[in-house]
Amino acid sequence: MSKISEYSELVQTQHINTAGTLFGGNMLAWLDLAGVKAANDFLKETDAWGVVTRAMDKVEFKEPVFLGDWVNCESKVIRTGSSSLEIEIKAFAESKDHGQRLACTANITFVAVVRNDEGKLVKFNHNLNCE
Ligand SMILES: CC(C)(COP(=O)(O)OP(=O)(O)OC[C@H]1O[C@@H](n2cnc3c(N)ncnc32)[C@H](O)[C@@H]1OP(=O)(O)O)[C@@H](O)C(=O)NCCC(=O)NCCS
Repeated sequence: MSKISEYSELVQTQHINTAGTLFGGNMLAWLDLAGVKAANDFLKETDAWGVVTRAMDKVEFKEPVFLGDWVNCESKVIRTGSSSLEIEIKAFAESKDHGQRLACTANITFVAVVRNDEGKLVKFNHNLNCE
């Protein structure tokens, strides 16, 4: 079983949309970074340079997020392939005014990569299993 990784952001004025809530594109970027955190934690003993995002699935915006909320993401590896890893991400919004709620969820597939002789990032078989 893989461990849970954590990543947080504070919602500031530059993150707000015309409806006065968190712009979904910012949430997507934060989910992606939260996924990268879990992927990098998982791969840290390997020779992988890092990961690139291959697919974003099952993105759900469940609750609006407001100015001044903290967005606390919990992410973990739920499936491993040869070079890929699927990460489940849960983003909890939290503030004194609005309490804590599960605001957004997603599953993101990353591919472990290394640089080849030409400096290009190519897939890397990590040989790890999350079971
Ligand atoms: C990631 C990349 C290096 C892999 O290239 P590739 O050698 O053609 O490899 P493939 O895409 O065929 O497969 C790599 C893995 O992704 C998986 N994969 C491919 N498409 C997928 C999808 N839609 N959903 C989930 N997994 C997928 C494959 O099954 C494979 O997994 P495995 O090795 O565990 O069996 C290349 O696709 C790439 O550079 N993509 C752009 C990445 C990017 O710019 N991301 C945004 C910025 S980080």
